[in-house]
Amino acid sequence: MRTPLVIGNWKMNGTLAEARPLASGIRDGLKRPGRVEVVVCPPFTALPAVGEILAGSPIALGAQNSHHEASGAHTGEIAPPMLVELGCRFVLCGHSERRHELGETDEQINRKVAAAIRHGLTPVLCMGETGEERRQGLTFTTVEGQLRAGLAGLDGGSLAKCVLAYEPVWAIGTGVNATPAQAAEVHGYLRGLVSEVGSKEIAQGVRILYGGSVKADNADVLLAEQEIDGALVGGASLNAPGFIAIVRKAARGAAARGDS
Ligand code: 13P
Repeated sequence: MRTPLVIGNWKMNGTLAEARPLASGIRDGLKRPGRVEVVVCPPFTALPAVGEILAGSPIALGAQNSHHEASGAHTGEIAPPMLVELGCRFVLCGHSERRHELGETDEQINRKVAAAIRHGLTPVLCMGETGEERRQGLTFTTVEGQLRAGLAGLDGGSLAKCVLAYEPVWAIGTGVNATPAQAAEVHGYLRGLVSEVGSKEIAQGVRILYGGSVKADNADVLLAEQEIDGALVGGASLNAPGFIAIVRKAARGAAARGDS
């Protein structure tokens, strides 16, 4: 069965003065997280300091973005080998804030996913519809386009290394989370698509996280869904006790479902 995964995406938050105590608090509170994998994605500038604090702990380091090339004339960009050198194991690809604020395209995101895998990083492909798209009945069309384009050209072995995240844009930072049923419906649809582009076996193994206003208060009902394999947490990951509570709920949910 799929091991749950909880990722804290700190977004553009965390000077070193803020990042260090937050990372220490998470590390100290999660010495034995149980049946759950935990990742934190600080901003680039805090990766070395947070990496040092988490070294030797069960919590992995991730980045919020990376370029698809290994080096070159790309001012302001960060390459996958730079992240690997700092101990990153995960990288977010195609977060909606990058799609919408910076115009990142499906094609660019696809190159980032492939580059992450080439360099031994686990890509977390983020997908999700806007509120308007949901109102127009375009939820499935939107996420299907994002999944097919984001995973285009990957062979089965590479597909099996990906993590997917469903983050409806209308739920991000709004305090209005998708209901467990809404999220599970989309997750089931995404898993069906992975079955088509890869295989049934790959689809059964791939982890699909939910993101969008996940908090300690709603984590248990969301994570009780068979289709929801963990959480991608923004705002609530900036508070150590709150994030730890979400991780504990993910571990308990997995135990209750009999996952290993
Ligand atoms: P919030 O948890 O703040 O809604 O953000 C979700 C998100 O975008 C995580 O990547």
